[in-house]
Amino acid sequence: MVRKGGPASGRNSADGVRFPGPMTAARFLRTHWQKRPLLVRGAFPGFADPLDAREVLALASSPDAESRVVRKAGRHWSLVHGPFTRADLARRPRRDWTVLVQDVNHFSDRAAALLARFSFIPHARVDDMMVSYAVPGGTVGPHVDSYDVFLVQGRGTRRWKVSRQRDLAFVPGLDLKVLARFEPEEEWLLEAGDMLYLPPGVAHYGIAETECLTWSVGFRAPSDAEIAAAFLDHLGETLALPGRYADPGLRPSRTPGRIPDDLVAHIARTLARIRWRPREALEFAGRFLSEPKAHVYFKPPARALPKARFEQAAGRRGLVLDGRTRLLHAHGKFFVNGETVEARGDCAAWLRKLADSRTLETLAGAPSAFRDLARDWHARGLLHLGEETTS
Ligand code: SIN
Ligand code: CO
Repeated sequence: MVRKGGPASGRNSADGVRFPGPMTAARFLRTHWQKRPLLVRGAFPGFADPLDAREVLALASSPDAESRVVRKAGRHWSLVHGPFTRADLARRPRRDWTVLVQDVNHFSDRAAALLARFSFIPHARVDDMMVSYAVPGGTVGPHVDSYDVFLVQGRGTRRWKVSRQRDLAFVPGLDLKVLARFEPEEEWLLEAGDMLYLPPGVAHYGIAETECLTWSVGFRAPSDAEIAAAFLDHLGETLALPGRYADPGLRPSRTPGRIPDDLVAHIARTLARIRWRPREALEFAGRFLSEPKAHVYFKPPARALPKARFEQAAGRRGLVLDGRTRLLHAHGKFFVNGETVEARGDCAAWLRKLADSRTLETLAGAPSAFRDLARDWHARGLLHLGEETTS
């Protein structure tokens, strides 16, 4: 049922996505988020892996996906980056290796749907969903992450050990960041559908007990140094600072290698003229937080649909954002994949709904400016038509 004058209602973050487990999302955020680990047994009853092991290995062979294999042989660790040939992966030993594939939510709608189960956390904080497929003994070693992570156990079992140790020194000379010393304080054996939440900085060590799949849902928080560096780049592109150094009174120099004092003073004065308004910070925040990772590119459909056909199909099948698309909003402004959205007309309610729930059941009732925008995004591969429904 479509509400008059607004986007179709559905399950979205405004309706409240339930925390996977008996706790409420509000309680989890209050008591554990960024504070302490949480083990949730049976968080996903009857859990079905979004991809099976064969499909994960196929992704690790694709040049579009970022993948790596980590192997431990005695005290030696090795890290090899993909893509891998099928033969590479078939030749591996029976024990002690793991293949990891980043951004699986970009390649699988089911992985994107699992990520959506965490939309009680703002999309601006999402990094990606990574999957690891391990044979018995497979591990990436004890380490710490600077990200919040939910480790959802798929098929098979993995033992997780955690520690709040302060000693975070790494084994020197490795391509991998493996902790030199690890003193586990707690450990659990996770089975399919169990989930372990870890805040940033908690040392952890996961070892496959059987052949297994683990889905890591990672949430990033940019460092202040990253924010500042990116803002300075942004200012470099947007700042209008008229003027230029001039030295009409220049006199012959006996020390031409020396920077003239006037020039240094001019530079200091120019830097002091750099100003920005709160709206510039908002514009930057939206572009920065919606910027896709460097290797991401969008695949337009083979054929762009004519307006009438697109609207008819979208009316029937609805729309879904591509897994790679980052669409965010703040203070009535919208940002997609590092750009400001030029939202004309009465688009805001529809864009907000699409940004929050990443899907729309229908285009019926949408203003024409929004329908045009949706068709443009469809032609650029930023969104797709939803699954065909029979009802
Ligand atoms: C893994 O799945 O093997 C590693 C995930 C992690 O430690 O973040
Ligand atoms: Co980790």
